[in-house]
Amino acid sequence: DAPEVEIFTLIDSTNQHLLNRIGQLEKGHTCIAECQQAGRGRRGRTWVSPFASHLYLSMYWQLDEGMAAAMGLSLVTGIAVVNALTAMNISGVKLKWPNDIYVEGKKLAGILVEMSAQASGPCQLVIGLGLNVNMPIQASAAIDQPWTDIKQVAGKEIDRNELAHNVILALRETLRLYEREGLSPFLASWQKMDAFANKPVKLLIAEKEVRGIARGIDKNGALLLEANGVVKPFIGGEISLRGV
Ligand code: ATP
Ligand code: BTN
Repeated sequence: DAPEVEIFTLIDSTNQHLLNRIGQLEKGHTCIAECQQAGRGRRGRTWVSPFASHLYLSMYWQLDEGMAAAMGLSLVTGIAVVNALTAMNISGVKLKWPNDIYVEGKKLAGILVEMSAQASGPCQLVIGLGLNVNMPIQASAAIDQPWTDIKQVAGKEIDRNELAHNVILALRETLRLYEREGLSPFLASWQKMDAFANKPVKLLIAEKEVRGIARGIDKNGALLLEANGVVKPFIGGEISLRGV
């Protein structure tokens, strides 16, 4: 039996909906909505979520305690989405560490992994994806950075049901492999999809800024940055990567 897929016309946030129901969900349980009134990104930012335009999808997953490497989760989710899009002949899609999907420097999609606080036992996770399909012009006014959608990238509209189906299957398969083998089987894919591989970048870490050359990721999902000939790993939810 495949895990359930719930579909809502209107919801606050698909991530919040699943977070509210942790403990009652089967791994792979999915929630999709046509519109979000409180769609969110990292650090309390808003995810612009107009009605019947895009894909807003969240999936519940659970990982063993030792594997609290939730860092890797947003990376492999990105890889699953690129694979699903490639299978639909949509190419040129790149990943920006740790949670964004870009085409030619414009944001196509974002990933938000959230976990419920748990003293012990397995790690309960909700993986959220917002993927732009056909942006209504009024909604775009609220986005304060360059964005794109599948309509622009593919030059045509695509069926959102087919897209959701492909993303759900790719995601479940990817998460099963990730929980068995960690990031190692994904490192080569990341290298191919990495928008900033070997490019000069800066990391914004709280008030600090660190500059260097992006050198991909390590097996923990840390971003590798080369500065003064030394490569160092950077990891943590407070880091933002920018091109320079
Ligand atoms: P970071 O590198 O820190 O992740 P970010 O700017 O990508 O930086 P996020 O929290 O990941 O920040 O994403 C939220 C941001 O994404 C919003 O502040 C807005 O700029 C942008 N955004 C919001 N809705 C959309 C959308 N539908 N499509 C594209 N971009 C959006
Ligand atoms: C980001 O780029 O910061 C991540 C954006 C994640 C948006 C998706 S839409 C479905 C799910 N529900 C939410 O409230 N957020 C995620």
